[in-house]
Amino acid sequence: MCGIVGYIGKKPAYPVIINGLKKLEYRGYDSAGISVVDDKVKTYKCKGKIADLEKHIKGKDLNGVIGIGHTRWATHGEPNDTNAHPHKSQHGHFIIIHNGIIENYARLKNKLTEKGYKFNTETDTEVLANLIEHIYLKGKVSAEQAVRLALRKVIGAYGLVIICADEPEQLIAARKGSPLVIGIGEDEYFIASDATPIVEYTKSVVYLNDNNIAIVTKSELSLKTIGNNILTPKIQILDLDIGEIDKGDFEHFMLKEIFEQPRSIQDTFRGRISRERNTIHLGGLHKVMPKLVNARRIIIIGCGTSWHAALIGEYLFEEFARIPVEVEYASEFRYRNPVIHIDDVVIVISQSGETADTLAAVNQAREAGALVLGICNVAGSSIPRETQGGVYTHAGPEIGVASTKAFTAQVTVLTMMAMLIGKKRFILDEKKYEKFITELLRIPSKIEEILKNNDLYKKIAGLYVNSNNFIYLGRGYFFPVALEGALKLKEISYIHAEGYPAAEMKHGPIALIDENMPVVVIAPQDDSYEKIVSNIQEVKARGGIVIAVVNKGDKTISEIADHVFEVPSTVLALAPLLTVIPLQLLSYHIAVKRSCNVDQPRNLAKSVTVE
Ligand code: G6P
Repeated sequence: MCGIVGYIGKKPAYPVIINGLKKLEYRGYDSAGISVVDDKVKTYKCKGKIADLEKHIKGKDLNGVIGIGHTRWATHGEPNDTNAHPHKSQHGHFIIIHNGIIENYARLKNKLTEKGYKFNTETDTEVLANLIEHIYLKGKVSAEQAVRLALRKVIGAYGLVIICADEPEQLIAARKGSPLVIGIGEDEYFIASDATPIVEYTKSVVYLNDNNIAIVTKSELSLKTIGNNILTPKIQILDLDIGEIDKGDFEHFMLKEIFEQPRSIQDTFRGRISRERNTIHLGGLHKVMPKLVNARRIIIIGCGTSWHAALIGEYLFEEFARIPVEVEYASEFRYRNPVIHIDDVVIVISQSGETADTLAAVNQAREAGALVLGICNVAGSSIPRETQGGVYTHAGPEIGVASTKAFTAQVTVLTMMAMLIGKKRFILDEKKYEKFITELLRIPSKIEEILKNNDLYKKIAGLYVNSNNFIYLGRGYFFPVALEGALKLKEISYIHAEGYPAAEMKHGPIALIDENMPVVVIAPQDDSYEKIVSNIQEVKARGGIVIAVVNKGDKTISEIADHVFEVPSTVLALAPLLTVIPLQLLSYHIAVKRSCNVDQPRNLAKSVTVE
C-alpha cells in the first residue's frame, strides 16, 4: 500500500525523502506529499506521482534536516490534493503520514465533531491527527503520550510517522499491522515502510513490531510499547544490495525481473541443493520437519500471484508427498471459520511478507494450533516473524507491481519442499529424487534459452495489442500457469483475460470464442497431451486464434496453432517454471505497446497491507 519515509539527522532531509519516495513508489502512486521542518513545518502535497510532486515543489522552501514523505494508495477518500498525506491536525500541532486503515474512524470523527473539530479531508488519517491533538491539548500531555493514548482508542491498522510542531526535534513512529523499519546511521535515523529507501545509507535496521512506538531524535532511538513498556531495539543487518533496486539497462523493473529469473531461481536453491550428495537441505524447516512429514493435511494460503504458486504447490505435494492439500485465498480462509486441526500444517506464501489478509490467516491458523510456515521473499517482514518456520525465496527485491521472479522462486521453494518431504515419506525413491534434483538444477539455463526468444514474444504481442479479451487454458500443473498468465495480462495491459482448466472450456468459455479471441494454451507434452490437442482443435473449429506454449520440436500442435512458443522439455512437475516465462513476456510487450505503465499499473499496489 502506501509508502512512508522519514528522516532526522544532519543532512538536508528533502533529498533523502524524495529519493526514498521514488524507491517506494511501487507501493502506491495516486498522490504524494512531504513535510520538512526547520523553524516551522512546511508541507507540500499533490495528486499524482512523485514526479508530479517534484514539479509542484520546485522553487519552494525545502530547508530542514527533519522530514517525512508519503506516496499514497487511496483507501478513504479519492486521490486528490487534499486527501494526499501528510495531514495536519486542526490547530496545526501534529503532522502525520499513515499507511493502513483506521476502522473506527467514523465513530472517532463523530466524537471529535461534537467537540468542535472540523474536517477538511475524507481521510481516516485526519481523524487520527485530530484525535492525537485533542488528547494532547486536553490532557496537557507530551506528544509521545498523546500518540500512545490516541492509539489505544484506535481499531485498525497503521504504520505512522508523526511530527509534533511543538517538539520538532523528534519523529514519532508507530506500527500495528503495517510495516515500518528504522535505519540507524551516525547521528541520523531513517524511517520507511520497507528497507529499500534505507539501504543506500545504512544496513543497520530495527523492524518495529505491532504495538511498538519509536521516539527518534537525531542522536537517539527509544522504543516502547503503546502501553509504555520500554523495549530494547533489536538491530539487524540488512542483506540487501543497492544495485538490486536499480533498473539497470532495462526499460522497466518488470522486464529486468523477468530476465533475472535464471539467477533468482539459482539464488533460491543455492546452498540448499547439493549436486554431489544429491540432497536438499532447507534450514528453516529443520525443527519442524517431523510435524511436516507427518502432516494430516497441508493448507496453502496466499493472495494474487502467491495464490497461483500455492495451486502449483498442491499438485507438487500431492504427487510427491501424497499429503492431501487445500489451497485457500487468505481473505476467504480468515473469514469463514475454517476447520483446522493441530496436525494440519499451514503454509503461507507471500512475496512481501506483509499482505494483511495473509498475515491475519497466519494468526488464525496459529491460534487453532496448526504448525504455520512461511514462504516469503522479504527478509525480516512480518510473516516470517510470525510463523514457526519457513523458507525464504531469495529472489531479491521485486519492484514491478506484477510479480514475476517472486512467483518462480516460490514455485522453486515448493518444489524443493515437496521433493524433500516425498523423500522422507519414502514416496519418492532415490532414483526419481536424483533425477528431479538434476532437472531442477538445469531450469535456470533452460529459462535463459526461453528468454532468447524475446523478439518472438514481442512480435506476437504486436498482433494482439488491440484485443479486448484473452482466454488462457491449461491442464494439471498448467492450469495455475494459465491463471497466472491471465492475471499478468489483466494487471498490466488492462485487457480482460480469463484462465481456465482446458477441459472446463466446454462448460462456458467456449461460447466466447470467435475470430477475435486469442486463446493461449499451455501445452507441453505430458499425459494429457492428446486431450489438450483436442481442446486446441475445438478452439480452431470455432475460429479462435491459438497461441500455444509447446515443447521444443513439437510437431502436432505447431501445425494447428496460429503461433507457438517453444520451451525446452523437462519433467512435468518443473515445467510451470518454464512455461510461465513466455506468458510474462507476452503480457509485458502487449502492455508496453498499449503505452501502459508496466511497473505501476493503475489501481494496483505491490503490497496490500489493508484488508
Ligand atoms: C498484490 C500484488 C500482487 C501479489 C499480491 C500478493 O496484489 O500486486 O503482485 O501477488 O498482492 O502479495 P504477496 O506479497 O502476499 O505475495
